[in-house]
Amino acid sequence: MTVFSAADFSDHEQVVFVRDAETGLKAIIALHSTALGPAAGGCRMWRYASEEEALRDALRLSRGMSLKNAMADLALGGGKSVIMAPEGSYDRPALLRAFGRAVNSLGGRYITAEDVGTSVADMLVIRQETAHVSGLNSEPGKGGDPSPYTALGVYSGIKASVRHKLGKDSLAGLTIAVQGLGNVGRHLCTMLHRDGAKLIVTDIAQDRVKSAVDAWGAKAVGLDEILSVEADVLAPCALGAVLNAQTIDTLNVPVVAGAANNQLATAEDGERLRQRGILYAPDYVINAGGIIAVSHEILNQFDEPTVIAKVEAIGARLAGIFSQADKEGQSTAAVADRLAEEKIAAARKSSTVASRAA
Ligand code: NAI
Repeated sequence: MTVFSAADFSDHEQVVFVRDAETGLKAIIALHSTALGPAAGGCRMWRYASEEEALRDALRLSRGMSLKNAMADLALGGGKSVIMAPEGSYDRPALLRAFGRAVNSLGGRYITAEDVGTSVADMLVIRQETAHVSGLNSEPGKGGDPSPYTALGVYSGIKASVRHKLGKDSLAGLTIAVQGLGNVGRHLCTMLHRDGAKLIVTDIAQDRVKSAVDAWGAKAVGLDEILSVEADVLAPCALGAVLNAQTIDTLNVPVVAGAANNQLATAEDGERLRQRGILYAPDYVINAGGIIAVSHEILNQFDEPTVIAKVEAIGARLAGIFSQADKEGQSTAAVADRLAEEKIAAARKSSTVASRAA
């Protein structure tokens, strides 16, 4: 296994391989950048097929967090951890506590939270070993479940996308296809329905589809149909890598704007969307509402109106990216990456200058 020459290695500052033989813990903590602040990003627990796959996930996801946090103007860098879930039975609290000790050993350079495969209850266990953990919604004064804020940011981003691409200030009468009716998708549908949008939905969970049909008069379609339905907006709110060479060809929408992380299968897919005349709201810009809320929790400054105002500013941020992309003849994804990387590089440069001056 290679690290520095791995395809997804992107000048990460630190990659920590954690082993605790007693509990069976095998984890990787990747700190992509601390230029803007402590590296923040969740802990994913997954049964990885190989160590390479786990490393790839940690490297890719931690870079994504750097870009997301930078674009949201947060005083946070980017990091992510992955725990390779052991085969067979194991003592989960003991394993998570060993992970918490590893997080603690980084002295606050990395702050963990929930991700796929981990829960609030898990974070409370990790909290027994380290203060560098967020997403603890059972504690008073904390932000709690980030998904309503993520949904609010996506809603604001959909409105900005519709304004830019379709020249409309209202969602009333527009058709919006939502893939995935989980925590974010459901909150989002509530807001879209309230604005008078017509919904087309799909989910693996049929009870969620039925609720959407009953509550919002949504039209249900099959899992394979959602990416080719005719609509004004497609909002991917389920999986990553849904936008690839095959699916982009079948899209029948002028706008793609949704919550899912890593929607583009490859960097080239942003350009593919542009060439098809489809406006793409870069995922880590439009779905930053949750991390904006979490960042206030981390700083112990959770104030609902302030958080909501910052989340709603996602629409204006996207509008700026769309205009710049038009002006430069670039994809929105490429423009967002460049802006985020510039912010990180500027912070790195000023901290280097400051430490030399000290
Ligand atoms: P969730 O796990 O609550 O919901 C996902 C939904 O998608 C589930 O209902 C699931 O059944 C459905 N689904 C899975 N595969 C599907 C498929 N092939 N076709 C249709 N539906 C499918 O997840 P959540 O929290 O709603 O997040 C949704 C997406 O947004 C994920 O990609 C997540 O990484 C991303 N995201 C979530 C944030 C949050 O605050 N929860 C923050 C930023 C990004």
